[in-house]
Amino acid sequence: MSDDTITLTIDDREVSTRKGATLLDAAQQAGVEIPVICYHEATSPNGLCRICVVDVDGGRVLQPACVAECQADSKVETRNGRVERSRRTILEMLNASVNLDEAPEIQEMMGEYAADEARFPEAQRRETEVIDDNPFYVRDYEQCVLCWRCVQVCAEDAQFTFALTLKDRGHETSVATAFDISMTESPCVFCGQCVGVCPTGALKPKVQWGMEQGWSEDEMRQNTRRARKREREQGDGE
Ligand code: SF4
Ligand code: FES
Repeated sequence: MSDDTITLTIDDREVSTRKGATLLDAAQQAGVEIPVICYHEATSPNGLCRICVVDVDGGRVLQPACVAECQADSKVETRNGRVERSRRTILEMLNASVNLDEAPEIQEMMGEYAADEARFPEAQRRETEVIDDNPFYVRDYEQCVLCWRCVQVCAEDAQFTFALTLKDRGHETSVATAFDISMTESPCVFCGQCVGVCPTGALKPKVQWGMEQGWSEDEMRQNTRRARKREREQGDGE
């Protein structure tokens, strides 16, 4: 075996992998499934949501598999009682503060881990208006799980546009443009990559949103084409 390879055990399966591989990489190699929310293969992992935690050698703290590196000869359990309890609590907290109605993968996890939707009855759900400031997509941050995928894909991970950032703190933290300017004033080039990586209904193509609102064909044309909108505005001013 080369010096660049290490061996560990994941759920009783022996896996040989490269040094520096994450526990998630090794688990995928071994055919073991670990749930993820903030992780996406197109963005840099940042260990934000903690749904991917696993037990390494019964250590005091569970390890986030998407960022923790494999250690030689370690014994990893991806789904014991501690891990399940931890994932269940994360899902319950998420559900208490975010509208997950359009996040089918997370809803599926809620069922799988028997998460109690009423666990935190006093919790305050985030409430925001849908932001409709451009012809291509809308933003509904009530549904945002703050995974950062959109921010990262807009920055160094793909587009190098840097139209998105984070504003405020704690419960009020939200994705936003710098100084909250409208998307059309921002550097956004409307590539759509943020919409593509969003795991919830927080970012949605305008056409899909219009269909859900029951827009007529003409409304759809007017609301999704910049030139038509400008013509309309000019017409209003005459
Ligand atoms: S808008 Fe979507 S992609 Fe962006 S942080 Fe929120 S949930 Fe993640
Ligand atoms: S998927 Fe690993 S921390 Fe979110």
